[in-house]
Amino acid sequence: MDAQVFPVPEATAKNALVDDAKYQAMYKQSVEDPTAFWGEHGKRLDWIKPYTQVKDVSYDPHDVHIKWFHDGSLNVAANCLDRHLATRGDQVAIIWEGDDPNDDAKITYRDLYERVCKMANAMREMGVKKGDRVCIYLPMIPEAAVSMLACARIGAVHSIVFGGFSPDSLGSRIKDSECVMVITADEGLRGGRKVPLKTNADKALEDCPSVKNVIVVRRTGGAVPMVEGRDSYYHDVTANQPAECAPEEMNAEDPLFILYTSGSTGSPKGVLHTSGGYLVYASMTHEYVFDYKDGEIYWCTADVGWVTGHSYIVYGPLANGATSLMFEGIPNYPSVSRFWDVIDKHQVNIFYTAPTAIRSLMREGEEPVKKSSRKSLRILGSVGEPINPEAWMWYYNVVGEGRCPIVDTWWQTETGGILITPLPGATALKPGSATRPFFGVQPLLVDAEGNELSGATEGNLCIADSWPGQMRTVYGDHERFVQTYFTTYKGYYFTGDGCRRDEDGYYWITGRVDDVINVSGHRMGTAEIESALVAHAKVAEAAVVGYPHDIKGQGIYAYVTLVAGEEPTDALRKELVGWVRTEIGPIASPDVIQWAPGLPKTRSGKIMRRILRKIAENDFGALGDTSTLADPSVVDDLIENRGA
Ligand code: WTA
Repeated sequence: MDAQVFPVPEATAKNALVDDAKYQAMYKQSVEDPTAFWGEHGKRLDWIKPYTQVKDVSYDPHDVHIKWFHDGSLNVAANCLDRHLATRGDQVAIIWEGDDPNDDAKITYRDLYERVCKMANAMREMGVKKGDRVCIYLPMIPEAAVSMLACARIGAVHSIVFGGFSPDSLGSRIKDSECVMVITADEGLRGGRKVPLKTNADKALEDCPSVKNVIVVRRTGGAVPMVEGRDSYYHDVTANQPAECAPEEMNAEDPLFILYTSGSTGSPKGVLHTSGGYLVYASMTHEYVFDYKDGEIYWCTADVGWVTGHSYIVYGPLANGATSLMFEGIPNYPSVSRFWDVIDKHQVNIFYTAPTAIRSLMREGEEPVKKSSRKSLRILGSVGEPINPEAWMWYYNVVGEGRCPIVDTWWQTETGGILITPLPGATALKPGSATRPFFGVQPLLVDAEGNELSGATEGNLCIADSWPGQMRTVYGDHERFVQTYFTTYKGYYFTGDGCRRDEDGYYWITGRVDDVINVSGHRMGTAEIESALVAHAKVAEAAVVGYPHDIKGQGIYAYVTLVAGEEPTDALRKELVGWVRTEIGPIASPDVIQWAPGLPKTRSGKIMRRILRKIAENDFGALGDTSTLADPSVVDDLIENRGA
């Protein structure tokens, strides 16, 4: 397991915010005296009422609570906008690059401030108050950032739903958090194709009585029905609003947003993040992990529908007064050189993307990359899933020409910001390793019984103690929060990931150890896909597992048992794939459906997923003990008809 080591490039080391000695010293202080450390670094924000309390945390299952800076107050939007006006009002805050390469825009901090104030006033006028939930279902257009910040300005809690989710998925999220407003667009545009957002929202809203108003951004100009008294256009409601709007004073622990994410069981949970600690952590990690310097152009290719877009397109960069590029399109439209063309066009210095994008572009060879200059690039980043060493090397050598460090950042929706990562000026890199913990983060590996493992070893990844960006609860279900994260291994936050630690103390994330799968960096619960499948009239039973996929990281493999008398035809297979797309969204489409006359179950009726995973992986030698199955012969049938 001797990985190649890439030392910090000299050019990076020269001006880096942090070198190794400084990392060691800061890390030591951060874990030995978190209160002093974060008490100091919390000052990077502007507080309305400065905090005197820094931290109050308990992981005791009987009393889980997490509070940071809890007697302070601030406004998140004012920290991302107002405080920059005097020094950088005319600096570009957001560079927007449209789906069509001829479509772009530059929005200064002053301009963004005014747009946010107008939208905030419009929302207040419609009765949205502090604490109300507002659903945002938008494409990657500047109005997405404007809407997020407008919510933050008036103290409303946003819940963004990724534009690729179906009406059903949208509706259940709106209902769970009882949103009073939905902000959407007529249509989205991705790779030249239209996404019917308003039509989807209308379908979702058939059964969402809490929603009083819908604001519709005109993106394509496509004709969409507008419901009298409920729907209005963004440009109409914002047009005559004042360009000033008093920010709401928020306690550090007042909610900022809810973001739904998948777990191993049940429906997606509403991860709740609050204001003060979240913004301290997002802004601090953005600055240190990307070694961000004033004036640099920073591009994170994520969608604001995922946590990466929240923390590293909008909140972290804007709190730091950065120039953040927001991209509406996809990596292969109009050509597979698109990323590299955009980097040259806007002179991007820092580029942060997902391994699945790297792998899909790697397949196209070096030529589409080499057509571009990429001389502006200084730092590369990776997020969302483990990056395989082959993709890492290609990213490093071909995209970065061997001169740009790659920060492989491990974190989760729940963590609010990056927890394990190299720092460009401090950390020697090993391809495929997220390397070392960020300040204040104490990873540990435990065995199945919860015993802490020491030295070079492999186990389940937990985090001891808290960090300011940690989620505070599951919206409306604190008990689920406690059960999911704090009962498996007492006294620790359990991540759900497996991990290896090498002799240098570097961490290597090996993937989820629960029933969550990661498809093209999109996180999904196998249980959600199963329940969509069994909702089809012809399906009696379904079991879904992940399997290794060259481009997506993991693919979706579904075993389906039909209702007696139904014919397993190719037409039905297509129908079921389409069915899952409409139930959940295109990202959940099964890659493989295998007809399964029976599923391997224990005598007590529990499906043995371990066996299904092995069959999907084509790894029959390692099936393990099948003697406890109620009917061992089903396994032979599944192997015989694998992938068919
Ligand atoms: C996985 C995305 C390896 C991991 C920010 C985690 C990673 C899940 C990495 C969270 C990485 C994320 N290396 N695995 N650098 N980053 N993951 O909530 O399994 O969408 O638990 O947050 O993605 O996915 P989520």
